[in-house]
Amino acid sequence: MAGNFSSQHRPRVVRTLPALRRALGRWRARRETIALVPTMGALHPGHLALVRLAQRRADRVVVSIFVNPTQFAPHEDLKTYPRTFAADLVGLASVKTDLVWAPNLKAMYPVGFATRIVPEGPAKAGLEDAFRPHFFAGVATVVAKLLLQCTPDVAIFGEKDYQQLKVVTQLARDLDLATRILGAPTMREKDGLALSSRNRYLSASERKAAPTLYRVLMDCANKINGGESIDAVLAAGRAAITQAGLALEYFEARQAKTLAPLASVEAGPMRLLVAARIGATRLIDNVAV
Ligand code: PAJ
Repeated sequence: MAGNFSSQHRPRVVRTLPALRRALGRWRARRETIALVPTMGALHPGHLALVRLAQRRADRVVVSIFVNPTQFAPHEDLKTYPRTFAADLVGLASVKTDLVWAPNLKAMYPVGFATRIVPEGPAKAGLEDAFRPHFFAGVATVVAKLLLQCTPDVAIFGEKDYQQLKVVTQLARDLDLATRILGAPTMREKDGLALSSRNRYLSASERKAAPTLYRVLMDCANKINGGESIDAVLAAGRAAITQAGLALEYFEARQAKTLAPLASVEAGPMRLLVAARIGATRLIDNVAV
């Protein structure tokens, strides 16, 4: 009985395009709306929050799990990226997921695959792209494929990866995709550290230093809101991050909508974005101002 109980609640997993299309076709025939939550697995409560938001926005929820090799540079952590598929299914069973789309490498990139989407605009903002030049072409290509494979009514992306959210929004608009792209707020640990699949790499002492990023982001956002000079606040923020033993990559204030540099105080809402390494682990975070 126990076995039946859990298998009943496990979401269905499809691994081929024909199986995916059959499942989606049945829902479409009943005029049910579909939400897609793209992930690379190693799911944590931040991912599950995206699934919960998806449930509120559509009749059916598809979660894709695919560790996309084209968004990793050769020196990055593709080989060691956490793969926890069985645990992911247990997590997805705890929220209502109708379907897991888990293509293998050949289903996503068959032999002879030869097309790449190279995004510009927010993908060239000089933030993540300056440190991971491969990244957004890999993301744009796989996300375009996922959106075309699933043709969802809505797709949910986390604000945790704020530049990625902007790149995907631009991509959907530029390619006339019918999917509405929705952003979801960042889920955090009690001490403010943004949940991330990569947090499990942190040693105990690194884990202790990691919340510095959010603390400094919030402190700087408050000071800017209080009228202090943006440049001075950013300079102090950069120093605080370095003093905590993190290797800072960038800490910038940008226009929230476009990620363009700030033109003037009247430029509209602002976003603070940061990336830093702690030991071998790279962390990113951002907050609204
Ligand atoms: P992944 O890192 O697995 O993240 C999947 C989604 O979860 C992304 O939209 C990300 O922004 C969101 N997410 C991650 N941590 C979060 C948190 N703490 N709170 C809220 N949302 C969070 O991002 C990717 O995968 C890939 O680049 C992908 C878009 C799947 C393309 O391969």
